[in-house]
Amino acid sequence: MTKSEAKERIEKLKKLIDKYRYQYHVLNKLEISEEALDSLKHELKKLEDEFPDLVTPDSPTQRVAGKPLKEFKKIRHQSKMMSLEDVFSEEEFSEWLARIKKLAPRDNFPFYSEPKFDGLALSVVYEDGILKYTATRGDGEIGEDVTQNVRTIESVPLRIDQKGRVEVRGEAIITKKNFEIINRGQKKKGGKVYANTRNLAAGSLRQLDPKITASRRLDFFAYDLITKTSDVLKTSDVLEFHSEEHKTLRELGFKTGGDLERRCENAAEVFKHYKKIAEKREKLAYNIDGIVISIDSNELFKKLGVVGKAPRGAIAFKFSPKEAATKVEDIVVQVGRTGALTPVAILRPVEIGGVTVSRATLHNEDEIKRLGIKIGDSVIVGRAGDVIPDVRKVLKELRTGREKEFHMPKHCPVCNKPTKKEKEMLAKCVNKNCPAMHRENLYHFVSRKAFNIDGLGPKILDAFLDNGLIQDAADIFELKEDDIAPLERFGEKSAENIILAIKNARKISLARFLYALGILHVGEETALLLAKQFPISNFQFLIKKYKNLSSENLQNIQDIGPKVAESIRNWFQDEHNIKFLEKLEKAGVKIEKPALHVSSPKLQGKTFVFTGEMESMSRDEAKAKVRDLGGDPSETVSKNTDYVVAGYSPGSKYDKAKKLGAKIMGEKEFLKLIK
Ligand code: IVH
Repeated sequence: MTKSEAKERIEKLKKLIDKYRYQYHVLNKLEISEEALDSLKHELKKLEDEFPDLVTPDSPTQRVAGKPLKEFKKIRHQSKMMSLEDVFSEEEFSEWLARIKKLAPRDNFPFYSEPKFDGLALSVVYEDGILKYTATRGDGEIGEDVTQNVRTIESVPLRIDQKGRVEVRGEAIITKKNFEIINRGQKKKGGKVYANTRNLAAGSLRQLDPKITASRRLDFFAYDLITKTSDVLKTSDVLEFHSEEHKTLRELGFKTGGDLERRCENAAEVFKHYKKIAEKREKLAYNIDGIVISIDSNELFKKLGVVGKAPRGAIAFKFSPKEAATKVEDIVVQVGRTGALTPVAILRPVEIGGVTVSRATLHNEDEIKRLGIKIGDSVIVGRAGDVIPDVRKVLKELRTGREKEFHMPKHCPVCNKPTKKEKEMLAKCVNKNCPAMHRENLYHFVSRKAFNIDGLGPKILDAFLDNGLIQDAADIFELKEDDIAPLERFGEKSAENIILAIKNARKISLARFLYALGILHVGEETALLLAKQFPISNFQFLIKKYKNLSSENLQNIQDIGPKVAESIRNWFQDEHNIKFLEKLEKAGVKIEKPALHVSSPKLQGKTFVFTGEMESMSRDEAKAKVRDLGGDPSETVSKNTDYVVAGYSPGSKYDKAKKLGAKIMGEKEFLKLIK
C-alpha cells in the first residue's frame, strides 16, 4: 500500500472506529460485534506501525476508551490503569518478543501467562485491611466509584489481613450460566437483553442501585498487585516477580486464574499454554478472550516502560475472533450440483475462529441486494453457527468510490449456456452436461453420507479430473496406485492410502448408494425410503425395477410427492445414467444385501453428538450402539448433526446444537430410540 492510500484508509478507519467506540463505550450499545471492532482497530494499528508519521493524537489507538458515566463519583487512580496491546498469532507474539529483546538483550525471559478475563477492569483499594474504595478503569486516569456495588461481589474480600494501603486490580466477570439466566429474566420482563457477558458485567456494575448488582452475582478475578514493597506487604522482600504477586494475591484471599495460569520459561512454553487454554476455553464457566503474557521480572517490566497506553512488558495474545473485518477482492459465481448458481465473495484471507477464511457464500441475488455489497468493499465476516463463513455487514463508510457493482450473469460461467431464473431469485444453469455440475456431482458421490471415501476431497478429485485420470465417478474404482502417485502433492504413502480407502468403500448400503447418485430432490431421507421399499442389491435387478417404477408406485411411498417421483423417474429413464450404473457394477461396486431384520432405520445415516455424562452407559458405549444401528457418531456439532444427546452437565456442544437447531434429546429419549 502506498503512503497516500494508507493515509486515506487510516482517516476512514479512524472515523468509523470512533463512531463505534462512542456507541459502545459511552452509550453502552454496539451495532457490530466487539470482535469486529477490534479487528478494525488492529488494522489501523498495523497501518500506523507501518507509517508512524501518520499517527495523530486523536487516533483511537492513542487513548483509553470509555468516559466515566456522570452519575458516579469520580476517582483518580494513583497509578494509571493501562491496557494491553493485542497479538493474534504466534508470529505476532514473536515480533513482540523480538522488540523486547532488542531493548533488553538477554537469552531468555521467563513469562507469566494467565487467562484474559472478559469483563470489566476494577481497582480495589484497601487501607489497613479494610476495603476502602473500588473504581472502574474509566479513561485510565479517572474512573467511577463503584464501591457500593463491588461490595456485593462475594469474591472480593471486604477485609484483608494487611496493614497500609494495598491496591489490587482485576476483572469483574459474570459466568456464562448466570448470563443466560439473567438474560432470560430480562426478556421475560421486557428489560434490556445483554449482547455478551462483558456487557452484562459492565452493565451490572454501573447500576446506581447495589441491589441490582447483587442480584447479578458477579465474580472477580485478581490479576495484578500494584503494591509491591515489603514495607506494606507482610512478605519479607520486595516482590520480584509477577508470579509472586499472584501467590500473594491468593494468600490475601483473592481468586486468580488458578490452574489456568503458569510461569513459562520461553516462547515455546507460552504457545503450548495458549493452545491448552484455547482448548479448555469452551468448557470454562466464564468467558476469556485470550491469555495475558507478562515479563515475570517486575524490575525488567518496569524498565521496559510504557508505549502509549500500554506497558511494553506485557501483551494480550488473543484467541482468533469469531468475526473480523476484511476486503471483498472479487465476487465469483459457482455452479452447484443441481445447476444452481451461487455468488461467492472472494475475501482477503482472515483468521476467524481458528481457521483462515478466504471465501463466503452470498447465497443469491437477493442477498447481494440486501447487503448492497460491491467488489472492493470492506466487510465484516463471521461464521454462521461458528462454521460457515458469511458476510455480516458491508462497511459502506470505508468506500473509496472505486468499488465495482456485481450482477448475476445471464450465462453459466462454466458452460456459457443461458441461465434460467427460478423462484426466490435463484439463477440456474439448465445444461445437463455442464462440467461444473458434473464436478459437483462427483464431490457429492464420495462425500461422507454417500460413498464416504476417506481422504478423497474436492481438491484431489479436481486433480484426478484435470489430469484426465477419471471421467466419472465409476472411474474412481479403477484407479491404481501408479496412476496417482506421480501427481503433485502425492507421495507413495498417500497414494496407497487413497487406493485402500477406495477399495474399502466399494461395498455400500443401498440407501447410501441411491443418495450418492445425486438424483435431484433425493436426499438421505428419500434414499432411505426408496431402499426400504425396493430393497435390491443386484445391479441388473435394480436397474430393471427402478426403470419401471411408475409415478404412482413412487408416490405410494409416504413423503414422496409428484415432484420427487418425477425426478426419480427421469433419472432412471436416462440411458446415460443406466450406462453409469452398469459401469459402477463393472468397476466392482457392491450393494450390500439389506439386513433381514433391519436394525432401527431411524439411525441409518443419522449423525449423533453426545455431550455430558449419561447414567446408563459411557459415551463410548453409546457411540458404539449408534454405529451398530447404522448411525454416525461424531464429536462436533455442525449443520449436519441430526441429534444431540445431552446427559448431565452438558458442555458447549449443547449451546451450539441449540443455535443450529439440531434435535436435542435426553438420555431417556435416546434409550427409547435405540431400543
Ligand atoms: S494485565 C498492564 N491480566 O485486559 C495492564 N489484564 O487490555 C494490566 N484483563 O484492562 C492488565 N484479564 O481489564 C491483565 N489476566 C489479566 C487480565 C487483564 C483481563 C483485561 C484488563 C485490561 C485489559 C487489557
